[in-house]
Amino acid sequence: MTAPLRIALAGLGTVGAGVIRLLEANGDIIAARAGRALQVVAVCARDRTKDRGIDLSPYAWEDDMTALAARDDVDAVVELVGGSDGPALALARNALNSGKQVVTANKAMIAHHGMELAALAEGKGVALKYEAAVAGGIPVIKGLGEGAAANRIDGIYGILNGTCNYILSQMESTGADFGDVLKDAQDLGYAEADPAFDIEGVDAAHKLAILAALAFGTQLDFAAVDISGITKIRAADIAQADALGYVIRLIGVADCEDKGGERFLFQRVQPYLVSKQHPLASVDGPTNAVVAECNFAGRLLFEGAGAGDGPTASAVVADLIDIARDRVAPPFSLPVSALQSAAPADPGHRVSRAYMRFVVADRPGVLAEITAAMRDAGVSIESMIQHGHPEEGGDVLVAIVSHEGPESAVSAALDLLDGSPSLSEPPLVMRLLG
Ligand SMILES: NC(=O)c1ccc[n+]([C@@H]2O[C@H](COP(=O)([O-])OP(=O)(O)OC[C@H]3O[C@@H](n4cnc5c(N)ncnc54)[C@H](OP(=O)(O)O)[C@@H]3O)[C@@H](O)[C@H]2O)c1
Repeated sequence: MTAPLRIALAGLGTVGAGVIRLLEANGDIIAARAGRALQVVAVCARDRTKDRGIDLSPYAWEDDMTALAARDDVDAVVELVGGSDGPALALARNALNSGKQVVTANKAMIAHHGMELAALAEGKGVALKYEAAVAGGIPVIKGLGEGAAANRIDGIYGILNGTCNYILSQMESTGADFGDVLKDAQDLGYAEADPAFDIEGVDAAHKLAILAALAFGTQLDFAAVDISGITKIRAADIAQADALGYVIRLIGVADCEDKGGERFLFQRVQPYLVSKQHPLASVDGPTNAVVAECNFAGRLLFEGAGAGDGPTASAVVADLIDIARDRVAPPFSLPVSALQSAAPADPGHRVSRAYMRFVVADRPGVLAEITAAMRDAGVSIESMIQHGHPEEGGDVLVAIVSHEGPESAVSAALDLLDGSPSLSEPPLVMRLLG
């Protein structure tokens, strides 16, 4: 067997400690498959005295993370600290500049700086691998970059945030409102104390931007993702969707269109009404799932645990095994110089059915005002349902489902209603999938 792959590990939290545990538990299997041992040499975290339930005595401790990148006895640096910038980015840059292979689970860093880091890695002839950054334990980066490498990928979409999926499926099964379920999710450890990145859709958008670059051979463009989260969804929306034969899921959707010699990239993270017949409807709890529409392989569905120490460590170590086997491919499948730039696609001409929910004052003429706006904008109404207790004098929920039509018509209708004193809050719009 050849010399071990010598590893420095930055970050010993959920994922970092998971990696140590996995390497200890499966070291023999991993060495046999990789053709050599994976040996952790040095580690770093903030607090040396913290009990992490793992024995750190075999490893050198560095107080300064960037010192890991300078060590002569290290071949690969694993960044499991987090944050798009700051120490994680400094470590990744230093490590690549020093000719070290880099593995990370950091979707925020890759979404914001993936092009720069990939170019650096290619220039140095080393690997930059990030399987764990997208959908935790699901091998979707490898699946797209290698398994589906022979295909043109026409579209990619999926459930990319386990926290949101847990909250939505709990709202569905308990009938509880968003705020109550979020609190339970935090108590159970399914949501962070500061859940903003998850529930506002930013985390899913990081992953979607990475998948889009890989799937379509385009430059990463996180800034162009159209993002809305799940905070405005009410128990009544879930009940309404259920009555129509749908569940609500936060979905990331991306596709890329060639028009007049130019490429247009569509990227959106938004709650969708997903038909109960669609494979994504049965993805419950903190599970993630990604669908890739391939021109020869057909529809590929990747599903599994999107987070957690075990699944995420599994993806990190899979990347290390690739490195140990000397498999160094461009991080985004194509060299960075070959990734095409794509303009953000105008969603206006996309055709979909829309669910629009209005919270309105209970007084005569309000429904007529809404339906007139739909008529004037050319939105054809398929069904309209009113919820609430007008006799109690409170707000009333009006849900409209449109026939299939251009998204620009729905936007025009909402523009007509913008500022109307009849609406107690801005309308919520969700598209229908399947
Ligand atoms: N958790 C998951 O299920 C999951 C899934 C997929 C991807 N990820 C990604 O994996 C990465 C790590 O996530 P995690 O959940 O393991 O985070 P975590 O539990 O918060 O662990 C972060 C680790 O980084 C260390 N750290 C933070 N700032 C540091 C600094 N300035 N210098 C040295 N060490 C520092 C912390 O040290 P102390 O322990 O001493 O405080 C801690 O060990 C993130 O990019 C995350 O997005 C996580």
